[in-house]
Amino acid sequence: MRSIFLKNSTFFEHAIMKTWLKIVLALFVVLLILQLPIFNPEKNYVDADTDVDITDKYEVPMNIQMDLYVACYNCHSNYTENYPWYYNIQPVSWWMNGHIKNAKQALNFSEFATYPPETAAKKFEALHKVMEEQSMPLKSYLLLHDEANLTDEQYQQIADWAKETQKTVEKEIDSTKKSTIGL
Ligand code: HEC
Repeated sequence: MRSIFLKNSTFFEHAIMKTWLKIVLALFVVLLILQLPIFNPEKNYVDADTDVDITDKYEVPMNIQMDLYVACYNCHSNYTENYPWYYNIQPVSWWMNGHIKNAKQALNFSEFATYPPETAAKKFEALHKVMEEQSMPLKSYLLLHDEANLTDEQYQQIADWAKETQKTVEKEIDSTKKSTIGL
């Protein structure tokens, strides 16, 4: 009895192992196929209007420009300066591309000057918030990008600047409203 049971169980174990092996092999083949260049998403090098960067319309102190450039522009602009080597491995590039796409939708420094004042004020508010919370850049990004780690002081400077600029924009919105209704 015992020996039959054992035999059966090894038979089943073998069958299960074989199925697993097939699944792992199939996944491996799929992964290999995904490495073909046709599956690479287009890189974020948008050849668009160059006069509509945030710095073309708003006062951005040089140190803050540098911070944003180093820590944010890879995702929040029309030009991802440094793609890491592992970007060429699938599905990493899809994952990163998704981040860049969502990031640009939320906030694109390269096109910031095209935002209507109301939108710009909201973006400055969001900027202030995420800098106060230190919730940007994304944690997963910071693990691999040491240069994007901002100090508490840098976070504070960007937060303060964003708040100030938000107020300035809101004042402008108010005065345009007043002038259009004749005050
Ligand atoms: C790795 C890519 C990446 C980097 C680098 C990055 N962000 Fe983001 N950011 C995102 C994504 C993705 C979103 C979209 C919302 C989300 O998924 O959280 C976002 C959203 C935002 C928002 C909008 C939040 C809201 O509530 O509307 C702000 C503001 C922002 N980021 C600021 C920054 C700043 C400032 C930096 C640099 C200090 C930065 N981000 C760096 C990926 C990034």
